[in-house]
Amino acid sequence: MAKGTLLAAADSSAATVKVWDPVVRLFHWTIVTGVVLNLWVFEHGKYAHRVAGYVVVAALAIRLVWGIVGTRHARFSDFFPTPRRVVAHVEALWRGEDARQLGHSALGALMMLTLMAILAGLGLTGWMMGLDAFWGVQWVEDLHGILANAIMVLAILHIVAAVVESVRHRENLPWAMVTGRKRALGARDADIAD
Ligand code: HEM
Ligand code: HEM
Repeated sequence: MAKGTLLAAADSSAATVKVWDPVVRLFHWTIVTGVVLNLWVFEHGKYAHRVAGYVVVAALAIRLVWGIVGTRHARFSDFFPTPRRVVAHVEALWRGEDARQLGHSALGALMMLTLMAILAGLGLTGWMMGLDAFWGVQWVEDLHGILANAIMVLAILHIVAAVVESVRHRENLPWAMVTGRKRALGARDADIAD
């Protein structure tokens, strides 16, 4: 496969470019910490759980604004998964010819937006549980629990996808979310762009 050969040729000293700005990276690792703490460490509904939950909500609010005014690959317009982009990405994947991209791929972006929506839902239902109007209302509690389970499952899928794509494209994507940098696009990388 031509792309494989090409990527194999890209050595580790290849030039890198800035992709994820500090806001995106800080947002990512803040929500990861908050979600992990709330799922497995803090007692559900207790003070620390609510504080961590609201930190996640605050990070999400900043990220949403940043998605409009932020740097190139932080912007929703850069990766919004329009039907055209999703179909093109799925077709390219099917042929095993999807181009390596600097920003989120179309399918990746679908997952990102879903995860963000679930975080918003967790914040909303968590907040509602503390209101007099919804005190003890079962469906709110149930929904909070369902969203918590959903984010656990999807985050695992997201991590698996990050590892698989890292292997396929020979680039450590989780590490790029730490440093913000990725290997510059080679001549053939963008052949099958969206
Ligand atoms: C990252 C976001 C969050 C995650 C992953 C999360 C996760 C969870 C989980 C797994 C439970 C147990 C659900 C069950 O027993 O079925 C729970 C319960 C609870 N959470 Fe959250 N939560 C988050 C945010 C929040 C926020 C922002 C608040 C409130 C400000 C909140 C308030 C509560 C309360 C009051 C309960 C107890 C509900 C009950 O009585 O069963 N959570 N949360
Ligand atoms: C609770 C767990 C997690 C959640 C909720 C989550 C959520 C997200 C979200 C919302 C984004 C989009 C970032 C943005 O555009 O601002 C993202 C990107 C990303 N996450 Fe996570 N994440 C989680 C855990 C992880 C872990 C543990 C890793 C590392 C193995 C990881 C690797 C990545 C990578 C590599 C990207 C960028 C994907 C790309 O290159 O397009 N995530 N994640």
